[in-house]
This record gives sequence, structure tokens and C-alpha cells, in this order.
Amino acid sequence: MKGKKALITGAAKRIGQAIACRFAEESIDIILHYNRSGQEAEELNTRLKETGVRTWIFQADLSSQDEGEELFEKALSACGSIDYLINNASLFPDDTLINFTARGLFENISVNTLAPLFLSRKFAGQNRKGKIINLLDARITDYDSRHVSYHLSKRMLYDLTRLMAIEFAPGIMVNAVAPGLILPPPGQGPEFLDKMKYTNPLQAYGTLKEIADAVIFLLKAEFITGQIIYVDGGRHLKGCVY
Ligand SMILES: NC(=O)c1ccc[n+]([C@@H]2O[C@H](COP(=O)([O-])OP(=O)(O)OC[C@H]3O[C@@H](n4cnc5c(N)ncnc54)[C@H](OP(=O)(O)O)[C@@H]3O)[C@@H](O)[C@H]2O)c1
Repeated sequence: MKGKKALITGAAKRIGQAIACRFAEESIDIILHYNRSGQEAEELNTRLKETGVRTWIFQADLSSQDEGEELFEKALSACGSIDYLINNASLFPDDTLINFTARGLFENISVNTLAPLFLSRKFAGQNRKGKIINLLDARITDYDSRHVSYHLSKRMLYDLTRLMAIEFAPGIMVNAVAPGLILPPPGQGPEFLDKMKYTNPLQAYGTLKEIADAVIFLLKAEFITGQIIYVDGGRHLKGCVY
């Protein structure tokens, strides 16, 4: 994997940052994308460079198709070719069927579903071998009634993962990692994880390392496409539990 180049969306913080740091351990060069977290992205960029990998950094609002496509084009002209695309950036707003709006749904679909599709299309347009990993959510197997727009957008990304795996074969492998309970939502502390861990069969929550390791596993695999790895302590096996 040494010297391969990976574009990671939403890489400044949290899971995206953990994937970037894991890539640096594998000597993978990194194209960091961020939207609003410019300072965190710059700090991460400095840390990654210190490990010896090459990095590039770009800002884009992925709710805009134009900005998403420009991001890919700028990244490609800066580094020549891109081997891995990690569609990690995501919105996670609260909404229910009662207060759900069409606008909220479109915002979630724009960032969580269409941006991965448009970036993947550009990626496939390089006409070379490559690997795409989409970040899904373990809850796609049941219903997340408190995040309806998010839930629907991730369900669509699940379908797109399988569709793209067929359409972009044989050159490109398209897989997904579906995290379960890993980090509390922004604004909530560790008590959130302690409370929620009993909803998992393994009665535990996962770590950033486990997500990053699953991504690495899929990037190393040469005979897997259209696959979803649930990193969720078995949560996807259960129905709705609050
Ligand atoms: N955390 C968990 O436990 C968990 C559980 C299940 C699934 N997941 C999935 O795993 C992935 C990473 O999770 P996370 O919790 O680390 O994600 P997050 O913190 O909610 O979001 C990741 C990044 O997405 C970027 N983003 C949001 N709106 C954007 C926009 N309009 N344009 C461009 N970028 C935008 C943000 O970048 P800026 O900060 O730069 O604006 C943000 O830092 C997501 O796909 C999520 O659905 C996470």
C-alpha cells in the first residue's frame, strides 16, 4: 500500500481523522478533505507530514455537486492519480417522521449519498484500478426513527455501494464499513456510550482503531466487492432498541 494515494472526505476530525492516521501508518499518501474544520485539518496535515507521507489538503462543501466534482479534479491535478476513495463525510441531524422536511431530506441525501456517488463517478473516470470505501451505519438494517433523513440517505448509500460494485467492476472494488456505537454524537460525552452499549449483543462500544482497521482490511482485499463490514458489536442483528 506504500505510496498509494487516498482521498478521505471529512477527514479533519473523529473517524475521518482516525482513518487518515491509520493510513499514515501504512505509508499511504493522503488527500485530506474538510468543509468547516479548517484549523483541525491544517493541524492534522502537519502531523501527517511529520510521519513522512505526502499530503494534500482541500476544502469543499459536498452539499454542492459542483464543489464535490471540483474537489476531485483539483485533487487529481495535484497528485496525478488517486488509488483509494473513502466516502466518510456525513451529516447526522435529528429528525423524526413528525418534523421531517423535504429540505432536510435533500440536504442529507446531497452530502451522505450524492456526494459519494459523484466522487465515485469521477474516481471511476480515471480508468484505472482503484478501491472505494463508503462509510455506512449499522442501523441501516433496522429503523432509526430519530434520524429519519440521515437513515434514508445511508440506506440509499447502501444500495449505491452494491450498484457501484457491479457497474465499476472489474477495475474498481466498492465496499463499505458500517460503524455502530463508536463515538458519541457531537455535544455528548462518554456517558452516552456507557448508556447505549447495552443495546449491543457484545455489550460494548467500538473504537476508532476498529473502524480504521476494517477500512485497511478492505483496501488490502483483492477478491471482495459489494461487501458491508459491520463494526458494531452485533447491533445490526437486533431490531429497534432504545
Ligand atoms: N461516530 C459514530 O459512532 C458513527 C456511527 C455510525 C456511522 N458513522 C459514520 O461514519 C462516518 C464518520 O462518522 P463521524 O461521526 O466521524 O462523522 P461526523 O463527525 O458526523 O462528520 C464527519 C465530517 O463530515 C463533514 N461534513 C459534514 N457536512 C459536510 C458538507 N456539507 N460538506 C463537506 N463535508 C461535510 C464534516 O467536515 P467539517 O468538520 O470539515 O465541516 C465532518 O467533520 C460518517 O459517514 C457516519 O455516518 C459514524
